[in-house]
Order: sequence, then structure tokens, then C-alpha cells
Amino acid sequence: MKAIRIHKTGGQDVLKFETLETPICQADQVVVNIKSASVNYSDVLIRKGDYPYMPTFPAILGNEAAGIITKVGSAIKHLKVGQRVIAFGGPAYATEAVVKASSIIPIPDAVAFDEAAALPIIYLTAYHMLHSVRRVTAGETVLVHAAAGGVGTALIQLAKIANITLIGLTSKDAKAAVIKEMGYQHVINYKTEDVVARVNEITKDKGVDLIIDCIGGPRFDANFKMLATLGHIIWYGIVAGPPSTDFKVALGSKPHKCHSVSMFHLYGILNNPALMMASFKTLIGYLLSGQIKPVIHARLPLSEAGKAHAILENHENIGKVILKP
Ligand SMILES: NC(=O)c1ccc[n+]([C@@H]2O[C@H](COP(=O)([O-])OP(=O)(O)OC[C@H]3O[C@@H](n4cnc5c(N)ncnc54)[C@H](OP(=O)(O)O)[C@@H]3O)[C@@H](O)[C@H]2O)c1
Repeated sequence: MKAIRIHKTGGQDVLKFETLETPICQADQVVVNIKSASVNYSDVLIRKGDYPYMPTFPAILGNEAAGIITKVGSAIKHLKVGQRVIAFGGPAYATEAVVKASSIIPIPDAVAFDEAAALPIIYLTAYHMLHSVRRVTAGETVLVHAAAGGVGTALIQLAKIANITLIGLTSKDAKAAVIKEMGYQHVINYKTEDVVARVNEITKDKGVDLIIDCIGGPRFDANFKMLATLGHIIWYGIVAGPPSTDFKVALGSKPHKCHSVSMFHLYGILNNPALMMASFKTLIGYLLSGQIKPVIHARLPLSEAGKAHAILENHENIGKVILKP
């Protein structure tokens, strides 16, 4: 088999395209012939050594892929050779993966491999932030940082289903035009516009009901100036580092606003298999009915994983980058 492995952290040059022996399939595992592997910003963070959950090296990168089962371990009765599946949890940047049966999600024939590979991380994250962490209701307004990214584009379609209004932030006017066309009701360029003033203008000084923030860093504080009474912030990423916010001050200085903040990590859902499988069923149903469709920015050969990382690191993508083994 071929795979992209890293032996140490570093730049895009540490991504090595290697020929490896296919690992032996244990009784509780299956072998998947990978047709599409999805690239996530967390892969970039792992490659750079900046992720809180680092693998043991050498490691094959990637956490989500889709393909066809070619071998089934002796203890598995519910999966079969030839079945089309999502392999969730990695490894993904490879032509083949040996995966625990508990990480396999069968997909219907009508779902394309690229869309299946792109589904798990961004849609489970977007879905559970809207419906498990917060439980949004129709008519609410949600402010989304990194609105043109993978999660931001997944939110567009889930927001339409939930009947909520989205305000998105991006750094590029070209991206702003595209995501507005896709469904963001309002888009603000955070590099050239005064975000707080614009959000308060859009919401007529009421503020937004929910802020979805994967950026963190020094700009996190401004979230508290754009929140409605009882408004909530979900912090789920460290694109600009951990928030520099003093939460005691941010929450305590306006107690009458009843603001709240929570942290979201998808591992919280993965550690609850019943909840994860129920939401997969919902999301695959949405895919089949055409209510959601992952936005694919680029498809690249597996050997060009470095280029895929560069696209994410240069913030060029609108939606997902897919590797084709
Ligand atoms: N907690 C979880 O379970 C979980 C799950 C999924 C993803 N995440 C994290 O969430 C983040 C977004 O994921 P994604 O798949 O949507 O990533 P993505 O597609 O790579 O999008 C990230 C976008 O963030 C924007 N950005 C980058 N640096 C920024 C900065 N300093 N300030 C403001 N915006 C900046 C850029 O868009 P513009 O140029 O348009 O601003 C960039 O394209 C990643 O950090 C990822 O690791 C966390």
C-alpha cells in the first residue's frame, strides 16, 4: 500500500509518500480500499506538532476516508466485502486502511465517496454545535468565524434546515461573495471592516444568539461585545492560539446579560457511540435528500498531500480539500 506518513513534526516536507506493508487485519477490524481521504486543519496542526492529541510517530495522517471493504475480520458479522463505507478515525492518507469495525459507517450507493469522506468531522462538528451544545431555535442569529472553511460551509446547509440566520466572517472579499451566494445572509470581511459595529448594525444592537469561534487568540474578547442577552459562545479551535480572554472579567462584568461560553471537541461525541451513530444517520439522510452537500474546494492525488496542506495553511479553501489515492 501507499501512504503519506510523518516521522517528525515540521513543514510540508515532512509529509513522506511511502510504500508500506498492509497491516494484518485483526478479528475486530476490516480493510478498506480508500477512494477519498479528507484533509482537515487538525492534520496540519498534527504535522506542525501543535495539536493537543498527537499520534505516535511514524504516523499516517488523516482521520476520515471513504472506500470499499476488501477484507473483514473473523469476529465481524455485520459488515461484508464490497460494502461502501466511511472509515472514521484514521488512518486516511493511504490507499488502504485497517480500521476497527466500530469506526466503520456504511454508506448508500447514491452517496459519492468524496462527499462521504468530507462528511464526518465538519458536519458532526457543525451539527452538534447547533443542536447538542446550544439547541438553536428557528429565527435565531448565529455569528460564524472562519465562515468559508470546512465547518463554516457545513453550517450554511444545516442553518437552512434549522431556519436560522447566519452572519459569516472571512478575510477575503472573493470568498465573501461565494459564501453569500451559498447562503450566508450577511458576510463581514474582518480584515477591512469593523466587525463589532457591523454585527450590531445588522442585529439592530440586539446582538447574536450564538457565536461559533474556532479562532481564539486576541480577537476572542470582541465576541462578548456582539452577544444578545442569554447569548452563547462555542469555542472549538485554536487557529490564532488559545483565547487571551479573562473569562472571569468577560462574563462577570455584565452579569445581567447572562452570557455563557462552552468548549466543543468532537471527541466528546465520538466517545458517545450511540449519539454519534444517531447523528450520522441524520446527516446521511440529509445527504440522500439533497439537503446537505459538502463543498469540495479541490481534489488532489494522495502524493500531493503537501499541496493540500498549503491550501489550508494559505486560507485559500472554500470548503474541503480531498486526497485521491
Ligand atoms: N473542536 C473540534 O472538534 C473541531 C472540529 C472541526 C474543526 N475544528 C477546528 O476548527 C477550525 C476550522 O476548521 P475548518 O475545517 O473549517 O478549517 P479550514 O477549512 O482550514 O478554515 C479555516 C479558516 O480560518 C480562517 N482563519 C485562519 N486564520 C485566521 C485568523 N488568524 N483569524 C481569523 N480567521 C482565520 C481562514 O479563513 P478566512 O481567510 O476566510 O478568514 C481559514 O481558511 C480548525 O482550526 C479545526 O482544527 C475543531
